[in-house]
Amino acid sequence: MHEPASFRILITGANGQLGREFRELQGGFPAFRFTFTGREVLDVTQEKAIREYFAANKFDYCINCAAYTAVDKAESEPEAARLGNVDAPRWLAGACARQGIPLVHYSTDYVYHNQQNTPFKEEDTTTPQSVYARTKLAGEEAARSANPQTVILRTSWVYSSFGHNFVRTMLRLGRERDSLNVVFDQVGTPTYARGLAHATLEMIRKVEEGEVPRDKLQGIYHYSDEGVCSWYDFALAIFELAGIDCKVAPIETKDFPTAAARPPYSVLNKGKIKEVFGLEIRHWREALRGMIA
Ligand SMILES: NC(=O)c1ccc[n+]([C@@H]2O[C@H](COP(=O)([O-])OP(=O)(O)OC[C@H]3O[C@@H](n4cnc5c(N)ncnc54)[C@H](OP(=O)(O)O)[C@@H]3O)[C@@H](O)[C@H]2O)c1
Repeated sequence: MHEPASFRILITGANGQLGREFRELQGGFPAFRFTFTGREVLDVTQEKAIREYFAANKFDYCINCAAYTAVDKAESEPEAARLGNVDAPRWLAGACARQGIPLVHYSTDYVYHNQQNTPFKEEDTTTPQSVYARTKLAGEEAARSANPQTVILRTSWVYSSFGHNFVRTMLRLGRERDSLNVVFDQVGTPTYARGLAHATLEMIRKVEEGEVPRDKLQGIYHYSDEGVCSWYDFALAIFELAGIDCKVAPIETKDFPTAAARPPYSVLNKGKIKEVFGLEIRHWREALRGMIA
């Protein structure tokens, strides 16, 4: 009998919210053979460990879900942020280049932080204004120069039923309190991590099945859910869809100071990824409804 082709995919940082969504999707991609590694198996801040792991194991793709994601803490830990967000992707990309395989790596809408208020395109000027955003941008460049077969997915406001994120925090606080203050002057687009993981696997599947040329799996793409909202609107929708009776008051960013500055507007234009890979993307409210259900 003819065996179906199978592709070996390494997922690093596999215990984070995005990494865990890949585990959930395994069954829908029978042609892919997944290896999931958390920090305890492959610490991506150890260059030697990466070299040894890649010498002992062969893959067709590496999807890096590991990152230093503590946005505020990064302001006081720039070295740790740099190690996780710049050195680690550089070393992973180098290991992938030696195997001749593509690296998929994730970056952030926070690389855009200026006065623009129309959706950002991939070629727009980047103006990161926090340690986290600067290290994420430097990590994109480091990975791309270590391996030309690197695809960067810049995404925004990621949540999932796993890990730490705004939706889970709101669901907890909304059940504990009668009212909450949430900023309404930061505008962007939520992204359900399951949709992001699914889109990533679809991109690889389409390349493997010859629907999309292999050389499209490199460079920078934007991916978030569709639509636009403020964190205040997002919180209202979470409570409405979850049936939680908690009042939400809109407040200004200046009344909710954080160590790291966030962009006032960071909506991503997804025209490129939709056109090249033929992806259909759900409105953020529909994706949220799916997660809460
Ligand atoms: N969350 C968002 O809103 C958002 C927005 C835009 C872009 N992104 C990007 O999306 C990607 C996925 O983020 P996420 O939301 O899934 O983050 P997450 O839930 O914080 O997951 C990150 C994972 O990386 C792991 N990790 C950290 N350092 C590691 C190391 N040295 N070796 C191996 N694993 C390590 C963490 O493990 P430990 O728990 O052990 O530290 C954690 O499991 C990241 O590149 C992030 O920058 C996220």
